[in-house]
Amino acid sequence: MAVYDLTPVEVPPVETKYRRIRTKLPVPQSLPIFESLGRSEPRSMAGQPPIVWDKAEDFIVSDPWGNRWIDWSSGVLITNAGHGREEIRAALREVIDRGLLASYVFVHERRARLTEMLRALSPDPQKYRVFLMSTGSEATENCIKLSKTYGLQKHGPHKKYFVTFDYAFHGRTMGAQLAGGIEKQKQWMVDRDPSFVQVPFPDGYKNEDTSFDLFLKTLREKGVSPQHIAGVMTETYQGGGPDFLPAEYAQKLERLCREHDIVMCYDEVQAGFGRTGKMFGYEHYGVRPDLIACGKGISSSLPISAVIGREDIMGLYPPGSMTSTHSGSPLPVAAAIASLEIIQKEGLVERAARLGEILMAELRRIQQKHPQVLGCVQGKGLVAGIQVVKPGTKTPDPELALKINIACLQKGLLMFAPVGASGECIKIAPPLSIPEDALRESIGVLEEAVDEVLGRV
Ligand SMILES: Cc1ncc(COP(=O)(O)O)c(C=O)c1O
Repeated sequence: MAVYDLTPVEVPPVETKYRRIRTKLPVPQSLPIFESLGRSEPRSMAGQPPIVWDKAEDFIVSDPWGNRWIDWSSGVLITNAGHGREEIRAALREVIDRGLLASYVFVHERRARLTEMLRALSPDPQKYRVFLMSTGSEATENCIKLSKTYGLQKHGPHKKYFVTFDYAFHGRTMGAQLAGGIEKQKQWMVDRDPSFVQVPFPDGYKNEDTSFDLFLKTLREKGVSPQHIAGVMTETYQGGGPDFLPAEYAQKLERLCREHDIVMCYDEVQAGFGRTGKMFGYEHYGVRPDLIACGKGISSSLPISAVIGREDIMGLYPPGSMTSTHSGSPLPVAAAIASLEIIQKEGLVERAARLGEILMAELRRIQQKHPQVLGCVQGKGLVAGIQVVKPGTKTPDPELALKINIACLQKGLLMFAPVGASGECIKIAPPLSIPEDALRESIGVLEEAVDEVLGRV
């Protein structure tokens, strides 16, 4: 976990159209807030750059002391339509003014509207259904449960395996972590459910073997036969790269699923709603998932998630038995409708694809200046990552990644703490609404920061 020093340091002032830094960082007056949280919260909640968010508008985040950052975090890939969009605020105000703040699964009209909108985005609107929840972890848990239920009910108890990938992240609840592929996050369980099985992810950098044969071979080695697999789930891209599957691999995986009636799940919690330059990232692969887990960017704001899935699988549970207290809660639903409308009306999906071309070309140019330590640059649409490594190797260098992250922060460019298995990946994920000149300005800031930090090492 990244550790940011809380000692205020003098930094050169910054004043541009979009960025402003005019205090020491962290801001001395902010320290009592960090100290208070240090007393009240578990330390697991620390670990992000030490600024205090006061206002967030579109692609700019401000603190209470007049500093402003161009945002490359989108929170954590939440605000695809931009932070605090007026259309979303207006929709929320309308619901608040009616006083309809909670409804359990009693019906309200907007729930019908949102589920219709999401169904319309599915691979086959006539044959897909939508189940609303609150968090991404709930959505991936639901994919696990539905896949295993389908295997059990349709084929019997031997069809029980749930296959996922090494280094996968599907959330922090127990099922999501069993399906996850990050070993150190799972140690607390001691005993593992042996029906959860991981295979290597074909990222092409850390694992150079991107053939689907490796998938089959690993399952054989683990004694898992395809006819005993209930479900397979992959993130559309693994966050720490971001690492995408080769399209051919995804298609072969789909064929295997069809051949053995395996439920094919895509975790679109990060990738969904335009982030990769497609409405859903799986569209890059030319496949048709049976279950799609959504979260984060669905509302660009309040907590809401969904599983969009094949009606025969979604219909396995009778009325009243697959619900959640806040399924379709009125405020998150209103926010999601407004956010989706913005994404569609403003063509943010196409925009992410177009701006992504600029971003990737520029990142590759920066990488070529420092190929020894900027080991790998990847991305699609408006999500990208730079893996920082020890010179000339593929060994992660989380300390150097953190230095670059802090240098950017001091210049008015905000990212969340570096990600990846060791914290080596500088992740870039601005709101999809970022103007081209702000994107270019922020890439310039990254370049300046990288040049300065690498000049010092
Ligand atoms: C791919 C993916 N799946 C699931 C989750 C879990 O979502 P949540 O934190 O909303 O439970 C995340 C969150 O980072 C994610 O990136």
